[in-house]
Amino acid sequence: MGPVVNILIVDDDPAKLIALRAVLDPLGANVVEARSGPDALRHLLKEDFAVILLDVRMPIMNGFETAEMIRQRPASELTPIIFVTAFDQADTNLGRGYELGAVDFVFSPIVPAILRAKVTVFLELHKSQQELKRYRTQLQGLVQERTTALTAINRELEAFSYFVSHDLRAPLLSIDTIAQSLLDNPEVVSDGTNDQIMRLRRTSKQMMALFDGMQTLFRLTGGDIRRQKVDISRIATEIIAQFQAQEPKRQVDSRVEEGLTASGDAGLVRILLTNLISNAWKFTRDKPQPVITIGSERVAVETRLFVRDNGVGFDMIYAHKLFGAFQRLHSQSEFAGEGIGLAVAQRIVNRHGGRIWAEGAMGEGATVYFVL
Ligand SMILES: Nc1ncnc2c1ncn2[C@@H]1O[C@H](COP(=O)(O)OP(=O)(O)OP(=O)(O)O)[C@@H](O)[C@H]1O
Ligand SMILES: [Mg+2]
Repeated sequence: MGPVVNILIVDDDPAKLIALRAVLDPLGANVVEARSGPDALRHLLKEDFAVILLDVRMPIMNGFETAEMIRQRPASELTPIIFVTAFDQADTNLGRGYELGAVDFVFSPIVPAILRAKVTVFLELHKSQQELKRYRTQLQGLVQERTTALTAINRELEAFSYFVSHDLRAPLLSIDTIAQSLLDNPEVVSDGTNDQIMRLRRTSKQMMALFDGMQTLFRLTGGDIRRQKVDISRIATEIIAQFQAQEPKRQVDSRVEEGLTASGDAGLVRILLTNLISNAWKFTRDKPQPVITIGSERVAVETRLFVRDNGVGFDMIYAHKLFGAFQRLHSQSEFAGEGIGLAVAQRIVNRHGGRIWAEGAMGEGATVYFVL
């Protein structure tokens, strides 16, 4: 047994109310009686009804006027109304009734089986609506719960990254300082240890850079993103100019499609493009004729932006690894880097609810696509 369902019957004639009740009782719903329009409105204030059976002809406020009032109230604006009317008045009034949102008419004298069948439909409908409402509330609760949990996890991660990048930095720095002071005292260091101390310093520097990377990565989880129309072509051109200025000798053929735009957070999109272009710039280093292309592709309803290069490329078998933090497919000695750039890029894209992926082949360049 589910919760009790209410039916409201409205008629100024007590005999008719008794008759209606007798017809409806077998349905197992709770039948509530009202003797007038105002009386019906009072009941509607207190309770929720699956369906209202409304006599058209009543003194003071007739059925249509009552229906109008019922419709004006948000709580009952959708409650199904069945008008009960005598056959001889039907022709003039049907249109008005439907305009007022009647879902049906029944004509007196009432045929019990027909009335029961009609009312049953509305009881079932009401039941499903209640069930849906319950599911919705349940879902909302679940989403709320998950969001709270995720927020807590994010905060913990932030605290952890702060710990790593801040607290662990200090001891590392002092190791580096000690190493430095050893090197500054040649009388206590032999030639053999000198080399080892240098290596120690290099390693601690690397570790420091990793901490910095982590900090960058986690900084991006906080704060709100502010979407706006971003001029991708302009930003990409500026970024390439910066790389060019840092290495004026390199000759790179850069091709930026005109009129590229995206809807995203301007600051984050710049970081995203910087990371992608930085890779394209880096991994084309040994090509005699490096080409970097920033363009777009329209697939079905979405526009994908891409950064493409004709550099060393990578084996597609490892494509899924690229975006993991500190994951690198090329050795430090070959191409320097922390392995944080694409992890940051992915995080930025995720924060926009978008997608990012890479395609490439060994020795044949790489393309990173993204949709914001
Ligand atoms: N355009 C590319 N061509 C070939 N390999 C790439 C390209 N972009 C990324 N990769 C591979 O994916 C790895 C991860 O890239 P990512 O940008 O995260 O790190 P990184 O460039 O090594 O270091 P960082 O960006 O932190 O300085 C790279 O080390 C490289 O092996
Ligand atoms: Mg990189």
